[in-house]
Amino acid sequence: MSDATPRFTPPLPGKRNSARRVEEMVRVDHAGEYGAVAIYQGQRAVFKSLPHKARIARQLEEMEADEQRHLDTFDRLIFERNARPTALAPIWSMAGHALGAATALMGEKAAHACTEAVESVIEQHYASQVEELRAMGEDELADLFAKFREEELEHRDLAIEEGAKQAPGYALLSKAIEAGCRVAIKVTERI
Ligand SMILES: [Fe+2]
Ligand SMILES: [Fe+2]
Repeated sequence: MSDATPRFTPPLPGKRNSARRVEEMVRVDHAGEYGAVAIYQGQRAVFKSLPHKARIARQLEEMEADEQRHLDTFDRLIFERNARPTALAPIWSMAGHALGAATALMGEKAAHACTEAVESVIEQHYASQVEELRAMGEDELADLFAKFREEELEHRDLAIEEGAKQAPGYALLSKAIEAGCRVAIKVTERI
């Protein structure tokens, strides 16, 4: 073989692993933002027709717009990073709408408790990804995820300010939702 022949250099094992890990992160975050949009849509569907619920409907609409922006970004990243979207998208969409509608039907405070629980898990999830991405030298993604994390924290804080912790059955409700989100993350990393 002459020196002029272009040779294929396979990526180093470390690089291949980190590309796969980034792909996993993009897949799970894409699904998470998709689920977040679905939750807020489910909640808004309950509140939007009730004139005395205009305040929470507006808050939910603003948060949903943030989630939609996050989702649009992950739509792009799925493509750029050659990631396979989760096969479970229809399930997360259904589960998200159901969770949103169910908590909204329990009342405004329960809806906020749902937001607090979901956003707490997502915030921690982004924080650990940011750390991992920095260690991999993926600073651009790390910066982006750090920004999204800030926005999830704003959602969580708004929910707390609006009385999430006074929801009936708060302790059980938030524990159950947090556990559900953690399982969803674990499953979606793989499938
Ligand atoms: Fe989000
Ligand atoms: Fe959020």
